[in-house]
Amino acid sequence: MKNVSVDKFDDELANTTKEMLLVMYAANGVGLAAPQVGINKRIVVFNQKTGTKSKKTLEENEKVLINPVITAKAADTRIGEEGCLSFPNIEGDVERHTWVEVSYQDLQGVNKVHRFENRLAVIFQHEYDHLDGMLLVDRLVPKSKEKVEHTLEKLVRKYGPGGAL
Ligand code: CO
Repeated sequence: MKNVSVDKFDDELANTTKEMLLVMYAANGVGLAAPQVGINKRIVVFNQKTGTKSKKTLEENEKVLINPVITAKAADTRIGEEGCLSFPNIEGDVERHTWVEVSYQDLQGVNKVHRFENRLAVIFQHEYDHLDGMLLVDRLVPKSKEKVEHTLEKLVRKYGPGGAL
């Protein structure tokens, strides 16, 4: 399903993003995209400080991006391990740009531009992929993909194709 741009910046949008953050924290995740919770809109939330005991630190690091678009990115890349709340049993290495410049709108519909670096750049690129239906398994480096495929084959042997929900 296509994920559509947000065009109404109202209380409903604010509530949706609040709920997305709650779902993310409950799962101890650092990022969540709206399509992961059945909302087919271009919204991502993330917080690299998930798990901190300080409420202030947590709130200060909350990011809510509406209709994000990557406008520039580093030529340099780095490879690091990633997981995904949508695939709790799959982890593996993914190559990401070391920084990305992103234009987006805030909850009031105001246009913003921000450059995310290092871990934030990785988290953002992961969540951004969800908006275009690109999944972690599609992004894994070949070696990690092989490992994951082995795990998937074992599950298919155990349960048969389509045997597990
Ligand atoms: Co994910």
